Amino acid sequence: MPIVTCIEDLRKMAQQRVPRMFYDYVDGGSWTESTYHANQDDFAKIKLRQRVARNLENRSLKANRLGIDMAMPLAIAPTGLAGMIHADGEILAARAATAAGIRYTLSTVSICSLEDVADAIEAPFWFQLYVMRDREFVGRLIDRAKAAGCDALVLTLDLQLSGQRHKDLKNGLSTPPRLTPASLLNILTKPRWIKGMLSTRRHYFGNIMGHVDGVDDLRQLADWTYEQFDPTLCWDDIKWIKDRWGGTLILKGILDVEDAHLAVASGADALIVSNHGGRQLDGAPSSINMLPAIAQAVGGQINVWFDSGIRSGQDVIKSLALGAQGVMLGRAHLYGLGAMGEAGVTKALEIIAKEMDLTLALCGYTDVQQIDHNILLPGSYPKP
Ligand code: LAC
Repeated sequence: MPIVTCIEDLRKMAQQRVPRMFYDYVDGGSWTESTYHANQDDFAKIKLRQRVARNLENRSLKANRLGIDMAMPLAIAPTGLAGMIHADGEILAARAATAAGIRYTLSTVSICSLEDVADAIEAPFWFQLYVMRDREFVGRLIDRAKAAGCDALVLTLDLQLSGQRHKDLKNGLSTPPRLTPASLLNILTKPRWIKGMLSTRRHYFGNIMGHVDGVDDLRQLADWTYEQFDPTLCWDDIKWIKDRWGGTLILKGILDVEDAHLAVASGADALIVSNHGGRQLDGAPSSINMLPAIAQAVGGQINVWFDSGIRSGQDVIKSLALGAQGVMLGRAHLYGLGAMGEAGVTKALEIIAKEMDLTLALCGYTDVQQIDHNILLPGSYPKP
């Protein structure tokens, strides 16, 4: 077993262990993948200030966000199909997140259901909502999230239509799914993954299957899900979702200052600056380049969270420095999940926490709450 010291080690291991069609689903972006790459490349351009000879004892990453005490200002981002990256993936990742003292966010298009995750962990988790045309179903989903004890609803706004991802189409991860001979042969080379999948009954969208009339098999499920993403979703719809939910509401997918103002006007508690990990509008700016302007415009009025491109604790620190109050980890945790299941997600979170702690210290700080743009080298970071 190779020694794992960074998220990239987990990524390589996941690439070996997860069937290509699911690995590519996680690790791909839309069209040319320029935005997907920019998310990481733009982090690399930002430089930290090395400071010395400060007392670095008693360091802390703890934070209270949205009324929740967190071991660090992080949450696991919602990611579709995590249960195809590893058998029972969402349950395992939720367990690891809870043990690490941060919130897990379950996707609407997860394999394990809301009820599966609620049964598996003691702490609350967050639920990500996609708005479907069938508003009765959406209402029931919100009620189920409440019954499962979720303490925030993350409403995704940037995927009313799915960005075109070339790899998924070529691998047969399409609607309906078309298992190509190459994808099938590739699956046969992943015995560890096959063994896991044979040991669980959770292979379909657990939040949908069994909860919609007339959706009884994979084909019907794929068709229903694809047809149901609601292209008519507008800012006006947020009110009834907010009222039906009645708790903390987080809007995900804000990449523009005007939309950030609309998010504040909607009465949401938080927004997430995100371009969906470069999976939606290719050609959009990196999320980190848009963060300072959005944080400056609305940071005083709404909690600003961030995702897209985080592969290290340094990236987390840079995001916090540029105005994020919290950061979400999507691919970074999925690499761990694909590599080693629950232990891999735990490892990913340990790596990120240790990198955050050391980075803070080497910049001369002891408390994550003290971070602002002064931790960054002037001229190296995007301005509002
Ligand atoms: C995706 C959706 C499901 O990015 O979040 O694939």
